[in-house]
Amino acid sequence: MKALVLAGGSGTRLRPFSYSMPKQLIPIANTPVLVHVLNSVRELGVTEVGVIVGNRGAEIEAALGDGARFGVRVVYIPQDAPRGLAHTVSIARPFLGDDDFVMYLGDNMLPDGVVEIAEDFNRQRPAAQVVVHKVSDPRSFGVAELGPDGEVLRLVEKPQQPRSDMALIGVYFFTAAIHEAVAAIAPSARGELEITDAIQWLVSSGADVRARIYDGYWKDTGKVEDVLECNTHLLNGLTPRVDGQVDADSVLVGRVVVEAGARVVRSRVEGPAIIGAGTVLRDSHVGPHTSIGRDCTVIDSRLEGSIALDEATVTGVRGLRNSLIGRAASVGTTGPGTGHHCLIVGDHTRVEVAA
Ligand code: G1P
Repeated sequence: MKALVLAGGSGTRLRPFSYSMPKQLIPIANTPVLVHVLNSVRELGVTEVGVIVGNRGAEIEAALGDGARFGVRVVYIPQDAPRGLAHTVSIARPFLGDDDFVMYLGDNMLPDGVVEIAEDFNRQRPAAQVVVHKVSDPRSFGVAELGPDGEVLRLVEKPQQPRSDMALIGVYFFTAAIHEAVAAIAPSARGELEITDAIQWLVSSGADVRARIYDGYWKDTGKVEDVLECNTHLLNGLTPRVDGQVDADSVLVGRVVVEAGARVVRSRVEGPAIIGAGTVLRDSHVGPHTSIGRDCTVIDSRLEGSIALDEATVTGVRGLRNSLIGRAASVGTTGPGTGHHCLIVGDHTRVEVAA
C-alpha cells in the first residue's frame, strides 16, 4: 500500500498564521501536524508517501525532506491550484500506479491511529473504504449513510439536511477502482472535483464501498480553536522528560517536557506542558496545557492553555490564556501605570484584552 498525503490547502480559516506558513506545519505538542500524519501513515507499515503540495511546497519540503527522518520515502506532487481532493488522485496517478493507497488529509489528526481500520481494508479489499466519525453538526463535512454491516449506501458532500451524523474524517482507503470514478465525475458547485462524489460514483455503479467508524479522538485542525483543543488533548498524553536545565528555584508539576538547551529559571511549569529546545523561561508560570516552541523567551509572565511558536517573546504579561502566538511574535506591556494598550496587529489577526 502507498499513501497520498494532501498538504496543498491554503488555510484561510487559520489566518494570520497561514499567511506565513502552510497550515499543515502548525505545531501540535511541538510537532507539525503533517509530521503527526506521517507517523500515523508509517504505523500502517506504509513507506512510499506522495505529498500533494500547493504554492507553499518549498516550506513543506524543507520540513519533511526526503522523509527518511520519519521512516518513510516522500515524493512531492505539485498541484497548480486547489482543484479538489479527487483532482489530487488524478495528478498522483503516475506515483500511485495501480497500487492500493490510503489518502490522508494533511490537517487531520487521528492520534489514536487507524491501524485496525487499515487491517480491515487489507483483509476485505472493498473498492473503497471510508473512515467516519459521529459529529454533532455534519453540515460542514462529507456525510455517509450506512447499512447494517457498514456498507455505504450514500455519500453527500456538505448536505444542508444531513440524513446521518457520520462524517468523513479525512482518511480514505482505495483500490485502483477509484481512478475510473475520478475520471467520470464533474466539478461540484464549489468548482472542485470532490472525492465524496467519486466514491458516490463507485457506490452508484454497484462497487463494494464500506465505512469503518473511528471512535478515538479526531480533530480537523483548520481553525485556531481546534489547534488549541487538539494541543490540549495531545499534551494530556505527554511522557515527562527533562533534557534542559531547571534551576533549584523552579518547580515542575505533572507531565512536563523540557527539551534540550531550554532553561527554566525561578519559574513554575504546570503540566501537561512542553518547553521547546533553546527556550528561556524566567520568573514565569507556564501551563497547564501549554506548548512553547524553540528559542522562545518568556519572562515575568503567566500563560496557560496556549501555544507559542518558535522564537516568540512574552514579557511581563500575566494573564495569557487560550492564545496562539506566532513565530518570532512579541507580546509585552507598555510599562507600569501607562494605562493604555499598544497593538501592532497584522492582517486578519484577533486580539482580546481584559475588559
Ligand atoms: C474535506 C472533504 C469532506 C470531509 C472533510 C474532513 O472537506 O471534502 O468530505 O468531511 O474534508 O476534514 P474540506 O476540508 O475540503 O471542506
